[in-house]
Amino acid sequence: IKGETLSEEERKRYLKIARRHTVRLGSLIGDLFELSKLDSASVTPQLESFSVPELVQDIAQEFQLQAEKKNITLSLKLDTNSAFTIGDIGLIQRVLENLVRNAIRFTPAGGEVTLSISERPQSVAVAVSDTGAGIPDNEISHIFDRFYRSDQGNGARSDSSGLGLAIVKKILDLHDSRITVVSKVNAGTRFEFELPRHRQAA
Ligand SMILES: Nc1ncnc2c1ncn2[C@@H]1O[C@H](COP(=O)(O)OP(=O)(O)O)[C@@H](O)[C@H]1O
Ligand SMILES: [Mg+2]
Repeated sequence: IKGETLSEEERKRYLKIARRHTVRLGSLIGDLFELSKLDSASVTPQLESFSVPELVQDIAQEFQLQAEKKNITLSLKLDTNSAFTIGDIGLIQRVLENLVRNAIRFTPAGGEVTLSISERPQSVAVAVSDTGAGIPDNEISHIFDRFYRSDQGNGARSDSSGLGLAIVKKILDLHDSRITVVSKVNAGTRFEFELPRHRQAA
């Protein structure tokens, strides 16, 4: 990038690399910052009543283009249009974003990512499933660890810090919720968590 010594082509190539590193550092710093805020008592979930299907629809819209670009079908399976919960909507949004981003990343072209909601007597269950790479049994117990990430291909190295699922788990901990995962290598993965149901006064 230093002046005359580089050809236009080289200059472009270095700029591209620099930009990629910058983006990656940016998201690493963002994730680290988020996690340390969640660790310190400085973030207490701001609880409010909100509609889970509405949030899930927003997330689907947010990732629609990204999915299309990779020729992945992103679909919704909602068994209710009006299930309310009490939680921190901004934090639950982060949970869903991290899960959907992973699902798209680990699913090859032609695959499917599905966001689904089921209403249960005391809760609203939210699931993100994909028809992607799957996770080997011996890795499942590590995926929620900080900085853990599989080192297999799928471009996983490029934009990943290994903090996404640690953030997911931390946020759900703060909501007294747990996440479960079921996965089969080369078949797909399904993450599910429950939020308390909130029956709204009319
Ligand atoms: N939907 C998925 N399909 C397959 N593997 C997954 C999926 N989601 C997460 N993983 C595995 O869990 C690891 C940790 O995920 P995460 O904490 O989000 O970190 P990162 O996305 O930075 O790799 C991933 O590297 C991958 O091995
Ligand atoms: Mg991730």
